[in-house]
Amino acid sequence: MTNSAVTIERLDRVGTRDVDALTALVGTLIRADAAIGWADPPTREEMRDLLTDLVAAGPSDACVLVARAPIGGAGEPDCNPVGFGYWRRYARTTLRPHADLERLAVAAEFSGRGIGRMLLRHLIDAARVAGCEQLTIDFRGDNAGAEHLYVSEGFTEYGRLPDFVAPDAERRFDKVFQVLDLREHPRGR
Ligand SMILES: CC(C)(COP(=O)(O)OP(=O)(O)OC[C@H]1O[C@@H](n2cnc3c(N)ncnc32)[C@H](O)[C@@H]1OP(=O)(O)O)[C@@H](O)C(=O)NCCC(=O)NCCS
Repeated sequence: MTNSAVTIERLDRVGTRDVDALTALVGTLIRADAAIGWADPPTREEMRDLLTDLVAAGPSDACVLVARAPIGGAGEPDCNPVGFGYWRRYARTTLRPHADLERLAVAAEFSGRGIGRMLLRHLIDAARVAGCEQLTIDFRGDNAGAEHLYVSEGFTEYGRLPDFVAPDAERRFDKVFQVLDLREHPRGR
């Protein structure tokens, strides 16, 4: 499968199939120790509530994108989510010009095909269109893949908290903070 078969879609309504597929996708990643801000896999109700909040916030305050790929066999191809990501504008009044890219995830079996980069670029473009000035992101310090991806799209590190992330009693990881200043990157790269 090539990237031409993948479509990036902005979610503007929350359907049961997407909720179920994204709950399964995220759950599988978390059980494989992916660091995407959930200690345990979210329930489908948690996923539904998250997506509902993001969609209800409206395009100026949040953007949730889904990458879809045909998974159907013979006949009508079925386009299911194989990745998703979202940003949300900061709630605090003094931080309202900015947004935080809270999550980006691609199903392991679709990883390495450029889908994460496609999602990220579309999320950045949407933040720019929404008038966001700075787009922040944070991730676990051992996430070399994510770090490589964000730096290659222009994000720069502005801080790091050593041993801040504690996924269990034994392990500690740095928390890395990066930002993309959209005023300095007026158009997509
Ligand atoms: C990080 C993630 C979103 C990347 O998505 P992806 O579709 O696999 O990434 P892409 O195929 O678009 O590749 C983007 C770049 O990241 C690099 N990359 C991706 N995963 C990597 C890994 N595990 N190690 C090193 N580099 C990696 C690729 O080499 C590529 O760089 P290149 O174009 O210079 O070769 C995906 O691996 C994922 O969902 N991981 C688990 C969840 C997570 O960690 N999310 C980010 C934290 S917020």
